[in-house]
Amino acid sequence: MTRPFCLTLSLLLTAFHTARADETGQRIEAILSKLTLEEKLGQLRLVDGHAGGGWKPQHMALAQAGVLGGTFNVRGTGPTSEMQRAALSTRHKIPLVFAFDVVHGYRTIFPVPLGEAASWDPDLAERCAAVAAKESRAANVSWTFAPVADIARDPRWGRIVEGSGEDPVLSSAFTAARVHGFQGKDISAPDRMMACLKHFAGSGEAEGGRDYNFADVSLRALRETHFPPFLAGLKAGAGSIMPSFSAIDGVPATSNPWLLQDVLRKEWGFEGIVVSDYDAIGQLVNHRVAPSWDEAGQIALRSGLDVEIWGSCMMQAQGLIDNADDLKLVDNAVRRVLRMKFSLGLFDKPYGDPAREKEAILHPDHLKLAREAAAKSCVLLKNNNQTLPIPPAAKKIAILGALANDKLSQMGSWTGDGHAEDSVTLVEAVRQRLGNNGTVIYTPAGSSSGFSFRKPSDGVDEAKDADYIIVVVGENGDMTGEATSRSSIDLPQQQLDLVQKVSALGKPYAVVLMTGRPLTVGWLAETCPAILLAWHGGTMAGPGIADVLFGDVNPAGKLPVTFPRSVGQIPLTYNSTPTSRPLVEGDKWTSKYTDIKNSPLWPFGHGLSYTSFQISPPLLDKRTIPHDGTVRFKVSVTNQGERDGDEVVQAYIQDDVAFVTRPIKELKAFKRVSVPAGKTVTVDFEIPSKDLGYWMPNGTYRLDPGTFTLMTGSSSAQVRSSSFSLQ
Ligand code: BGC
Repeated sequence: MTRPFCLTLSLLLTAFHTARADETGQRIEAILSKLTLEEKLGQLRLVDGHAGGGWKPQHMALAQAGVLGGTFNVRGTGPTSEMQRAALSTRHKIPLVFAFDVVHGYRTIFPVPLGEAASWDPDLAERCAAVAAKESRAANVSWTFAPVADIARDPRWGRIVEGSGEDPVLSSAFTAARVHGFQGKDISAPDRMMACLKHFAGSGEAEGGRDYNFADVSLRALRETHFPPFLAGLKAGAGSIMPSFSAIDGVPATSNPWLLQDVLRKEWGFEGIVVSDYDAIGQLVNHRVAPSWDEAGQIALRSGLDVEIWGSCMMQAQGLIDNADDLKLVDNAVRRVLRMKFSLGLFDKPYGDPAREKEAILHPDHLKLAREAAAKSCVLLKNNNQTLPIPPAAKKIAILGALANDKLSQMGSWTGDGHAEDSVTLVEAVRQRLGNNGTVIYTPAGSSSGFSFRKPSDGVDEAKDADYIIVVVGENGDMTGEATSRSSIDLPQQQLDLVQKVSALGKPYAVVLMTGRPLTVGWLAETCPAILLAWHGGTMAGPGIADVLFGDVNPAGKLPVTFPRSVGQIPLTYNSTPTSRPLVEGDKWTSKYTDIKNSPLWPFGHGLSYTSFQISPPLLDKRTIPHDGTVRFKVSVTNQGERDGDEVVQAYIQDDVAFVTRPIKELKAFKRVSVPAGKTVTVDFEIPSKDLGYWMPNGTYRLDPGTFTLMTGSSSAQVRSSSFSLQ
């Protein structure tokens, strides 16, 4: 294409889009001018459907009366069409929007987000989110309450499973990738949906790791640690955001004008929808910042909320909204909701297409991707004497532990529209794999929660003749996610007893850990020859894990979160700040515990492979970098083994001296690369100088000249360094 032509075309396209936008603006104003206050407030309300996806009669009545913006949980072309028909029969014919928590899959369930983040492969997350969007949209769900952008540093908090772990850079990459996957370039496309970043912000700091609890999070911690993934998600174009249940410096996020207006709207320029969490507006009464539900509704509106889910406080505030300022706030919120409905294409295509729904759901390509994701999420925590992969000569394989065949648990915490019967378990996958060439002896050995035994036998007797034993322990799906905080993150005694008995047999065995959070498994780490962390891997967890156990896939996952030795160490992260008296072994008067090491059981970024890699120190192209420049360096990765494999090269920095205490190590960049056996691959990195600054206590960002240590390696604890100066 010649340049002038190119220019003309782009001008024409811009003019076309501006005209469309104006046209949409005019349509919005035309609708708005005809709505009563009750109808306007109705647009700001989303009610919940039945867990199974159907609608509730009282909500159908709201749709018929034209006082409902949409629903969440109602899904599938059948139930959504019924409600949509009612909404479109009202005088203004405004379509409903159907939302749902599509967090790690709609019907095809992918690994839990924390597990997916262990792949350190944001492209994988984008592809999984795109499939989730495709299935959702085919079921007429066009708005997901995902991705979760919360940084979580406390494994007692069950919701740690929903995000991408403890690090802002890793979480930002995954949050942005998921937004791109859900939304694509155009959310009106038949295979895309609108994303929602949640829970804004700092809810991962819930005191004591107890869900919904108070979070004491400093302004600096918000800026440095908790805001970046939200900002990355907004830059990726996320159309909505959900304030958290918790309070920031005493002000609940749902009624926090600093957070929702000063930061979100004014500083970051966000123009999309701010949607409440489930009943969060009503809960302002529980926080004791509002005396009643109607006043809570008014406070939320004034603080910056557009849409309320589940509750009706904003609707109940109708009697209080009698002044021009509040009416203007309502109008602006309705404008945003209508714009969202236009952007999603709901005015043109309000109904789903049953044929497309049937075709999209559980498409073989989706299951293939789910299997790939399950395998890529696995982290090989320990592997003595090449216990894994399972040798081909092992034909009689015993599998112990109820989690190995628990179709529901493997789907994890947010199961979307997933059906347990779609899941392929590890037991089924190993049976399929061995076919007539081997035998699988499976004993559930108790329940998947590990707290009771279903049958008297623990299965160890049955496993005595096996060539190889796989023991699956951990948490079941119900033990992770929302409202599942734990004060102890040990394995239940029954599971430990089981592994102990297997260990006493003296046979080759590997432990598979299925969990939604780090667990304190020091005894396993000391005793078991091989441990594979498989998280809750989704619909295709079984085949994915088997691919790794049998060596078809060489594991390359890395921990997105630190595994502590004991709950007493929590919060324990790799990026802690220096102390006045850093640990000196043998010196009593330094920062340490008297009964346990400071170090974690497994550090952030840890994960082994069936091959071994040598990673070079960073080779900087210049050692003096201008403050508006870029730090450029190369790292070579050599695969020293006989198997092809992927390695995740991690680059950390340390600011040697600053005004505030800076992390001893901060992830700044990473790349997952494939390296054939015996070969060396060179990886190029770039870190813009502006990313080397830090936040001051007063909320300003500062970039200091001075020296930095640059570290590269295969985990936060395995690095080689070099240094540079920033001018
Ligand atoms: C959760 C949100 C979720 C909402 C709707 C709340 O309890 O905190 O993450 O989006 O429910 O299901």
